[in-house]
Amino acid sequence: CGIQTRTQQLSFFMTLFLVDAKSPFVSKTELPKYYQPWMETARNVPKLIDSHSLRTHIHQMPLLETHFMKSHRELRLAHLALSVMTMGYVWQEGDRDTVKVLPRILAVPYCEVSQRLGLPPILTHADAVLANWKKKDPQGPLDMENLELLLSLPGGESVRGFFLVTMLVELAAVPGVKAIPKVIAGVRQGEVATVTRALDSISLAINGMKEAFKLMHGVHLCCRWKDNPCMAEGLVYEGVQAEPMEFSGGSAAQSSLLHCFDELLGVKHETKSGTFLTRMRDYMPPAHKQLIQDISSHRPSLRDFVLERNNAGLVSAFDRCVSQLVSFRSYHINVVSRFIAVPAARAKQLRSQDQGSEPDQAIIGKAPTALEERGTGGSAIMSLLKTARDQTSNVTIHGPLSSTKTSDLTLISELSSRLSL
Ligand code: HEM
Repeated sequence: CGIQTRTQQLSFFMTLFLVDAKSPFVSKTELPKYYQPWMETARNVPKLIDSHSLRTHIHQMPLLETHFMKSHRELRLAHLALSVMTMGYVWQEGDRDTVKVLPRILAVPYCEVSQRLGLPPILTHADAVLANWKKKDPQGPLDMENLELLLSLPGGESVRGFFLVTMLVELAAVPGVKAIPKVIAGVRQGEVATVTRALDSISLAINGMKEAFKLMHGVHLCCRWKDNPCMAEGLVYEGVQAEPMEFSGGSAAQSSLLHCFDELLGVKHETKSGTFLTRMRDYMPPAHKQLIQDISSHRPSLRDFVLERNNAGLVSAFDRCVSQLVSFRSYHINVVSRFIAVPAARAKQLRSQDQGSEPDQAIIGKAPTALEERGTGGSAIMSLLKTARDQTSNVTIHGPLSSTKTSDLTLISELSSRLSL
């Protein structure tokens, strides 16, 4: 009975947030007419930023009540729209002229909607990726050509690619997440064959995530008002609270996928990366956070079961899952080094040489400065990502995977060859 209840509970949480590939229209695309001023403005954010008129436009919007929205999907769309307007409002003039106060027209409804959803009032992964897509042709496939964003930020194709590819990574994970309750039920019932099969589905799904990730050709950094030198004091949400509030920006670290797989496989993150990853759970919809907790609290643990049964097929299936997760994290590290760490380091180098030629200025202008501004040149982030990858590798039954070292070498050689350009 306990097993049944737990499995039902897990299925309940999954249907609550997962994309159902058979009827993929989980995103709401319109709000009731009353909220037209929000949707119209949110849809025009890139254009209004371009003409430096978004802030003025927002000041002229009416202050809207939030109680006309009833469903979870409406609230998620409203959170997305308010998030996009807020990001645009704060960064209309780039890093150099951010604001200290978010006007009540945005701040009050934003905080009300956030509270009802259990999300923070900042653009999260759940907004930008999970609630921000639709099929152009409803009968067509779920692929890049047939997908579009509901709302965007300045950056055109690269923003579109970044959010939609991340959505496709989520979609590829669905069969893997659906296999988790099967693993848990199998462990409880002592069914080695069931657990082995379910683990194989998870391996396949993680491999699919990496394949989908390969479609990523650009980067978009979501900004934050926590540990951000451009907004050292955070942001005051006018009409909500007099003291400034601080929030981390959107990151796929807020996706529940890897958290779920980590908890299932028993990956223990060390203090620094663990603290960061635990904090990221506060940026997920509460049902996602609950799902991760449910997976982590099931007993006996999967790893103990695999060790105890000592069945060759089961051990290999478990190790294959770990290996796929390590491989996904290694690929992610390569992507981060290619799109962020290398351009940031190159720009920093050029800046310190102060050559000032035109092509150099172009490289400096394009480089993502967010990592440099943390004062680490990106090394702290790279170390966080590598530690998370190595901790994953540690849970294999047959010892840490050698592929870890190989990928480090690839990464280092890539980094050094690019830096000596
Ligand atoms: C161009 C694409 C991407 C870039 C540049 C990127 C960048 C980053 C950065 C800088 C971090 C460090 C933490 C932070 O500052 O937020 C991070 C963490 C993380 N990212 Fe990404 N990311 C990308 C795509 C993805 C995708 C598609 C996923 C999977 C859905 C993902 C999953 C994660 C996870 C789970 C973490 C936490 C560390 C870990 O658990 O290994 N990222 N990412």
